[in-house]
Amino acid sequence: MKTFTLNDGCSIPALGLGTWKSPADEVTQAVKSALEVGYQHIDAAWIYQNEAAVGKGIHESVKGGAVSRDQIFVTSKLWNTFHQAESVEVGCRETLRELGLDYLDLYLMHWPIAFKPGRAQYKAPEDFYPLSEVPLSETFEAMVALREKGLVKSVGVSNFTQSKLEKLIAETGVVPAVNQVELHPYHPQTELLDYCQAQGILLTAYSPLGSGDRPDSMKQKDEPPLLQNEQVKAIAEQENLSPAQLLIAWAIDRGTVVIPKSTNAQRIAENFAAASHDLSEQARSAIDKLDIQYRYVSPDTWFFPGITYEGEGFWA
Ligand SMILES: NC(=O)c1ccc[n+]([C@@H]2O[C@H](COP(=O)([O-])OP(=O)(O)OC[C@H]3O[C@@H](n4cnc5c(N)ncnc54)[C@H](OP(=O)(O)O)[C@@H]3O)[C@@H](O)[C@H]2O)c1
Repeated sequence: MKTFTLNDGCSIPALGLGTWKSPADEVTQAVKSALEVGYQHIDAAWIYQNEAAVGKGIHESVKGGAVSRDQIFVTSKLWNTFHQAESVEVGCRETLRELGLDYLDLYLMHWPIAFKPGRAQYKAPEDFYPLSEVPLSETFEAMVALREKGLVKSVGVSNFTQSKLEKLIAETGVVPAVNQVELHPYHPQTELLDYCQAQGILLTAYSPLGSGDRPDSMKQKDEPPLLQNEQVKAIAEQENLSPAQLLIAWAIDRGTVVIPKSTNAQRIAENFAAASHDLSEQARSAIDKLDIQYRYVSPDTWFFPGITYEGEGFWA
């Protein structure tokens, strides 16, 4: 498995198993199938509400001798309700308890947004802490302290734009190891990739296959399904790959980590095989030239100027 070296010296496998939307009664087996076939990286999060089942898969695989804990790279994410500095360790320890682990390899701030805990929903400005009250820099510094306590090995962020990264780095003096964002041919974020590569921040590509199993409430009418794109299908055929494999190989070829989600053993193995495919230059440039722009994941109901973001817009 190809690996990348993070700016703190740790190594991260280029392919990981995504677990958002994976039902708890399926994800244990998915994790076991992945580790059996050769994955060494699992992407989890507190909010996915399946970390205990993910942890069970890890433990059963370790117990069965398929892998050892130190051969597996486990990522999790601090949920938006734990942004206050004194809550950060609480959120991390809840995740560790659920996963049954004593450390995480990578801990990410899931969103640059602070929820007030205990609300039934997050739809009105008063459901959020304004960034001026709970600054991202204080949340991130509390995450860095977890590294010093040995609870996490590397610390990063997710859903950060360049302007948010610049501000975070200026305020904390710490360069996040990773920024996990939506990346695929319809949303390649090439400028962000260039900036992060120059800063030594590794990008992880989420929803690399177009996140077709998102809840309907998150979908727009007539959205373009990436895996069904005729050009993607044709290029995949030329490369002797499935469309999903092509998208995975493209992501790694760009120098990003990629974390496709599947709970199907056959597709888990198919996705794993893509990580060792050397993409041809023709295929790379043909995908780079696809001219559809589409972002699949954008919780617009959380975006309030002056509260959950500053400046031009949440994604600016
Ligand atoms: N940081 C964040 O805010 C954030 C946001 C979104 C996602 N993520 C992470 O990124 C991971 C991946 O993103 P995602 O779950 O949104 O979507 P995705 O990986 O782009 O797509 C998942 C969908 O693709 C299907 N699939 C998987 N392999 C396939 C293959 N070889 N051929 C055809 N279909 C295939 C899956 O079905 P089956 O399961 O039936 O195979 C599922 O319906 C998440 O699970 C999560 O870990 C993070």
